[in-house]
Amino acid sequence: MRGLFVTFEGIDGCGKTTQIEMLSSDLRAEGIPYILIREPGGTAIGEKIRTILLDKANSGMHARTELLLYEAARAQIVEEKIRPELEAGKVVICDRFYDSTVAYQSFARGLLRSDVDYLNRWSTADLAPDLTFLLDLDEKTAYNRRHGRSDEEDRLEAEGLAFMKKVREGYLALGQDEKRIKVIDAASSPEQIYQKIKLAVWEVLER
Ligand SMILES: Nc1ncnc2c1ncn2[C@@H]1O[C@H](COP(=O)(O)OP(=O)(O)O)[C@@H](O)[C@H]1O
Ligand SMILES: [Mg+2]
Repeated sequence: MRGLFVTFEGIDGCGKTTQIEMLSSDLRAEGIPYILIREPGGTAIGEKIRTILLDKANSGMHARTELLLYEAARAQIVEEKIRPELEAGKVVICDRFYDSTVAYQSFARGLLRSDVDYLNRWSTADLAPDLTFLLDLDEKTAYNRRHGRSDEEDRLEAEGLAFMKKVREGYLALGQDEKRIKVIDAASSPEQIYQKIKLAVWEVLER
């Protein structure tokens, strides 16, 4: 039996972690085996790559270097964790996967879409999610959720918001193209959002 590969996407603060926790607790309650995975990271090698990516000392990192590091971590987690766990019949929940790479590295940072698509397929050896939830939220609301305030932003924050706007638009474009991506309005309450997620997941699990 092949398990179910579910990914969560959306800009920082849209509510991915919140929804993943709700889904995990239901799967646990129902005795359905699952694992949670975070990208980049989730393997010993991937965690080291994550440290390089997050290190403020690496501000000189070129966008192509960044892309290849994400793909390197992804290749490892696909072979070491995702594929074996799916083959064991588990639900694999991933907090971000390769749609993030398209939204951030291509739409927001400007790398060529066809290159990013190719590397996404290559690093995963064509393993695609079965179901992807795109939690769509405007960048200002997402920012306020993360920082718990709503006063005037400074210049750097404004730049950050412009960047997040591009990421959001990239995600929405992907959502239009890909049938596996369910776009969910993330402005509603966690419970309302989760209702939709639960329905979609259980519909596939009961098939
Ligand atoms: N639907 C929601 N409405 C209001 N606040 C939310 C909602 N979902 C999550 N939050 C809050 O917003 C913040 C960011 O949520 P989180 O789940 O960590 O987002 P992400 O993992 O996508 O960055 C948290 O403080 C969380 O409690
Ligand atoms: Mg999170």
